[in-house]
Amino acid sequence: MRIPNRKNGQFSVDLETNLASLKLDNPVMTAAGTSGHGAELSAFFDLSKLGAVVVKSVSAYPWPGNPGPRLAPLAGAMLNSVGLAGPGIGAWAKDYLPGLRQAGAKTIVSIWGKTVEEYAEASELLAGRLDGIVAVEVNVSCPNLKAKSEIFSHSARATRAVIEAVRPIGIPIFAKLSPNTHSVAEVAEAAVEAGACGVTMINTVLGMSIDPLTASLDLGGGGGGLSGPAIRPIALRAVYELKRRIPEIVIIGVGGISSGRDALAMMLAGASAIQVGTATFSDPKAPLRVLGELTELCARLGISRLSDVVGYAPKGMKITSAVETLSDMKAEDR
Ligand code: DHB
Repeated sequence: MRIPNRKNGQFSVDLETNLASLKLDNPVMTAAGTSGHGAELSAFFDLSKLGAVVVKSVSAYPWPGNPGPRLAPLAGAMLNSVGLAGPGIGAWAKDYLPGLRQAGAKTIVSIWGKTVEEYAEASELLAGRLDGIVAVEVNVSCPNLKAKSEIFSHSARATRAVIEAVRPIGIPIFAKLSPNTHSVAEVAEAAVEAGACGVTMINTVLGMSIDPLTASLDLGGGGGGLSGPAIRPIALRAVYELKRRIPEIVIIGVGGISSGRDALAMMLAGASAIQVGTATFSDPKAPLRVLGELTELCARLGISRLSDVVGYAPKGMKITSAVETLSDMKAEDR
């Protein structure tokens, strides 16, 4: 394998990531709801090494969530209906935030609510505790709430109202969007106009699983949200199409990423940063592994500044020596 642009045996890759007003050391994050409430992952690796840690969605008040079973493993995917169970921001901040601070994590807090007012309350409660918190991810796309609330991000108007309600918090805001609608671009535009720095996409894909032998649903909540490798092409296409339609938008790409190659593909499609979620269930070190693989892949491809590749796919790969290196790598795969 030839490594292009090696100087003194080293090829350094600049991983710095700019998400509008939020600067991160690298683009790899955890995905909300896939690694506990916060600090649990620090038992497996140094959380300060990631670009950011996105915690499980938390609301203003405690919420019991849905009945079990809450998870159903499927081929190449996972279906879940947790129903946003959580302790509420007060208890979360007391029990989990100190561990994140101690680990040096750049924390992004995912918040949710059943109404616009509840989102406002969640952001007000968070506003007094921002030490170590670098941004808010507003989950407007949970598929598993049975209440009257629709999925907020199926409506540009509802998404705008939620982001406006959260905006007074004064730190960068990202809106986490649903793939289960045709109006992703309108919703994304509304989120940014309302004050979001960018969007995180995609949340899980609506799905269901039935055991034919017992004629029962696999999840206690009924339907659920599908995640994992099976949804990666859906996420990639959603990111690609949004970036082509709104080139200046900042996108955090998420959906089935479990390797450095998956991460690079998502960035080529248009994501400025990426999140690793379901992969963490089978490999708790997956986010850090993906970061290592992505860095090594950049070195092999001669990508000296990772941010240069964001949205590159429509133009084709013309990065230094990439064609030669890629053919070497394809040969290795055979
Ligand atoms: C849940 C929330 C989500 O945003 C999601 O994508 C899947 C599941 C939940 O808590 O049920």
